[in-house]
Amino acid sequence: MQDDEMKISIIGTGYVGLTTGVGFAVKGNDVLCVDIDAAKVETINSGVSPIYEPLLDDYLKKVLKQKKFRATIDLSDAVNRSEASFISVGTPSGKDGKIDLRFIEEVSKQIGQVLKDKKDYHVVVVKSTVVPETTEKVVVENVESASCKKAGEDFGVCMNPEFLREGKAMEDFLTPDRIVIGSIDKRSGDVIEKLYSNFKASILRTDVKTAEMIKYASNAFLATKISFTNEIGNICKRLCIDVNEVMKGVGMDSRISPHFLNAGCGYGGSCFPKDVEALIWKAKETGYEPRLLDEVHELNNRQKVVLVDQLEKRIGKLKGKNICLLGLAFKPDSDDIREASSISIISKLIEKGAKVKAYDPKAMENMEKLFPNIQYVSNAKEALAGSDACLIVTEWDEFRKLEDKDFDAMRNRIIIEGRRILDKAKVSKFDGICW
Ligand code: UGA
Repeated sequence: MQDDEMKISIIGTGYVGLTTGVGFAVKGNDVLCVDIDAAKVETINSGVSPIYEPLLDDYLKKVLKQKKFRATIDLSDAVNRSEASFISVGTPSGKDGKIDLRFIEEVSKQIGQVLKDKKDYHVVVVKSTVVPETTEKVVVENVESASCKKAGEDFGVCMNPEFLREGKAMEDFLTPDRIVIGSIDKRSGDVIEKLYSNFKASILRTDVKTAEMIKYASNAFLATKISFTNEIGNICKRLCIDVNEVMKGVGMDSRISPHFLNAGCGYGGSCFPKDVEALIWKAKETGYEPRLLDEVHELNNRQKVVLVDQLEKRIGKLKGKNICLLGLAFKPDSDDIREASSISIISKLIEKGAKVKAYDPKAMENMEKLFPNIQYVSNAKEALAGSDACLIVTEWDEFRKLEDKDFDAMRNRIIIEGRRILDKAKVSKFDGICW
């Protein structure tokens, strides 16, 4: 091992844990990834990623071959063999949007029990997205009481938020915009800063509460940009203005930036909806009413079904109509349907008595578990055939290639798109959600 390479353990092998583990191994560190699911551990050790994430499989195979990476179910061994442990377990939404910290609590206790007998200095790093105060009030307290040791003296604690997009997680990990390291003391932060020394990115050192808030503020701001764009889009639609041209002009202002200004049928995924709700909950706990965030969240929920309202305006009652949906995943290059707009759209279409036919390149298996009674077909053309209307819900690249002749197979040519992907040069006559 070179001087700046470290032995680290990662607890939790979801998309953040696995990407982080494989990523640190690619950067030359020795990594042990821990999960309670033995079958998952076996799959990972055979070189197959249990989640669909571009590049992850290739890098996983590479680091396994180099013996830089291994998955295990033995948390105690992994913590003992490493200098730092990253907690990257799930933090789902509980009741009223409140963050559910039971996995964080459990893992911090387990790490504490191992640290009780561990002689060498160890840094516990929170990678999971947790609301401000969690690292200090939950992680530090649990590790201290299980280890009978003192944080900041006998062991270190850091909060190092992730900014990984699904579908681009490896790329985001290896070439980040910034690295945020919150620490309870200088020594802990220095250890983690050393781990990132061979990354080309600015490093921001803060306390742990600030690092926790940076993560929430970043996601809440991106969600706000989207809801703001959708609000402008809904006004533009009524004035026959194309919101995409408007936001192109807006995004040319360097203070605003052109990113995350795409109007459409709302944001989904496992992060924005959950994180905005958790921040709302935390704000309310402090006695503050976060009205802007409340509206960002509400507007997004309404935006998800605008396509169905527009469809009804075009074809009247939906009862018995054949409606085809192109795209189910919450975004392209993913099989993830958590909080996807397609779920709200399908629910509303079913409620109104429509017959739904759907196609998605990756997410149909997941959607079938939720909606077993709608029809799933194996390509876009099959979905379009005989349909009374088509709604485009996810911006998969393959839908960009659709042409007029593909839509000719529809019974009634009504196309409403929620993601701005059809090419006007190839497809005539279609409506956009905000354009
Ligand atoms: C998001 C953030 O982008 C990451 O930085 C963050 O690390 C991650 O959450 C997380 O907290 O773990 P992700 O949920 O993978 O990443 O997806 P995004 O690419 O950000 O897209 C989220 C949703 O917003 C998608 O449904 C997408 O269609 C929608 N979106 C995005 C828009 O409607 N308009 C836009 O302009 C951009």
